Amino acid sequence: MTDPTLRVLLSAGQIRERIAELGKQITVDYPGETLQLICILKGACFFLADLARAIERDIRVDFMGISSYGKGKTSSGEVRVTKDLDISLEDSHVLVVEDIVDSGVTLNYLIHLLEQRRPKSIRIAALLDKPDRRLRPVHVSYVGFKIPDEFVVGFGLDYAEKYRNLNDICVLEEPVKAPAAAETVI
Ligand code: PRP
Repeated sequence: MTDPTLRVLLSAGQIRERIAELGKQITVDYPGETLQLICILKGACFFLADLARAIERDIRVDFMGISSYGKGKTSSGEVRVTKDLDISLEDSHVLVVEDIVDSGVTLNYLIHLLEQRRPKSIRIAALLDKPDRRLRPVHVSYVGFKIPDEFVVGFGLDYAEKYRNLNDICVLEEPVKAPAAAETVI
């Protein structure tokens, strides 16, 4: 099925190859270590599933839910944990797995939060990075692709919960815009 509003930015093959490279790099960087992967729900679970299988080390997986306010507008920096981890991070090598870093508000907050749990080390792997959108500093150790400031969907990324199951990452050319409150005709 072709959707005229979607333009492929990164094909399934490109994504597969890049994740395999990231897995090899992570394998080299953690010799003989157990690695605790933390998947940030929901979008990153697709990336996590492939990345985890590309890392040839003993790994553990846990999930965290985060919700941020003011996203895409002025960033208030207010972030809320909607689902916390089931495990302790003390003395663990932690790799936070994200689908995309945009303003950096989510990860900037999250890294400070997780550092308080005294992991042995903490790094970030993000499939996509939009550096032009950054409002808060975030150091991403493993970046799949740097992409321009376009609205992307697929491979876990959604628009109103749609498109997460696309194999490619696509630019959504004509997102249906909800009318702003000020535009409402009474
Ligand atoms: C996305 C993404 C990050 C965050 C990045 O999540 O997974 O968590 O936004 O944005 P930021 O750098 O501007 O903080 P989203 O809120 O879309 O949730 P989802 O993964 O459940 O779709």
